[in-house]
Amino acid sequence: MYARIISTGKYLPKKILTNSELEKIVDTSDEWILSRTGIESRHIAADDEFTSHLAEKAANIALKTAGLNSNDIDLVVVGTCTPDRMFPNVACLIQERMGIKGPAFSLEAACSGFVYALTVADQFICAGKAKRALVIGAETMSRLIDWTDRETCVLFGDGAGAVILEASEEPGLIFSDLGADGQHRKLLYTDTGLSNMRSSVDGDLKMKGNEVFKVAVRTLEQMVDKVLKDNQLEQGDIDWLVPHQANLRIISATAKRLGLPMERVVVTVNKHGNTSAASIPMALDTAVKDGRIKNGDLILLEAFGGGFTWGSCLLKF
Ligand code: UT7
Repeated sequence: MYARIISTGKYLPKKILTNSELEKIVDTSDEWILSRTGIESRHIAADDEFTSHLAEKAANIALKTAGLNSNDIDLVVVGTCTPDRMFPNVACLIQERMGIKGPAFSLEAACSGFVYALTVADQFICAGKAKRALVIGAETMSRLIDWTDRETCVLFGDGAGAVILEASEEPGLIFSDLGADGQHRKLLYTDTGLSNMRSSVDGDLKMKGNEVFKVAVRTLEQMVDKVLKDNQLEQGDIDWLVPHQANLRIISATAKRLGLPMERVVVTVNKHGNTSAASIPMALDTAVKDGRIKNGDLILLEAFGGGFTWGSCLLKF
């Protein structure tokens, strides 16, 4: 038994924040942001728009694209580090609004949240515990941002992406590999929390970008080497790389290691910045809907983020 992605959806909030608008808020420049990250603009959720609202919109598009209705789904898994509230979890909020039955939970693995969520949903399906799962990555990163910190506020944005994962006799998800290492936690973190009784209205994401960059590139290179080796693949065998969209330079380094030209890499970071767990399903939806990714293509999803956490999923689309 396999689990196959049968449809995708994405949603980006309407408000766009461009690099030139950021120039008016902090000491930065369009040239710096573009050359260091590849980001041109990001989307920012409205004040009354929460992670569950973005997730629900992406989920409804994935459902409609598949020609299914809510009764056809029997599991909801959401990757997010920016939930509306501690509970009900984001998946339960969506489940109630969409009228879905079955287990519904969110998991928190920062930028790797979608790859973690997809891997967990795959386990449910392969164990015969679910037939069709709604798997979502959704974030309102703008709520964690300190808008006076130029080193982080130019990087992040909001959005949501969703896929429907279905039980199948045909190969779908064929390999996944998750990892984590808490020892670097001081390189990328927030102080905000409930258990530690700290809350922040303005957001308090902190990152030592340059150091994160180095660990990210090194870890992703080791990860893609393992994907190739464990699946008896050669460099260039993968049809599409759909990476976490944090920085174009990190994406290019991973593509090089895979022996892939940039034409076979889905890049959307320019349009929405780093949307954490939402970035992979949004990029996947973009390339599926514009016709680049076709049935039967071999696709590698990969992510690295806060924790640190990382993960890869190799799948036949
Ligand atoms: O989502 C998963 C986790 N996150 C990531 O994967 C992000 C990883 N890190 C990165 O993407 C990059 O390290 C950044 C984009 C965050 C930074 O790029 P960098 O090439 O590593 O720059 P840097 O941190 O080494 O900073 C270079 C210079 C510094 O000035 P000095 O010390 O050389 O005078 C910074 O103060 O750029 C300065 N700088 C800025 N200048 C203009 C930092 N932020 C800005 C800014 N505008 N927004």
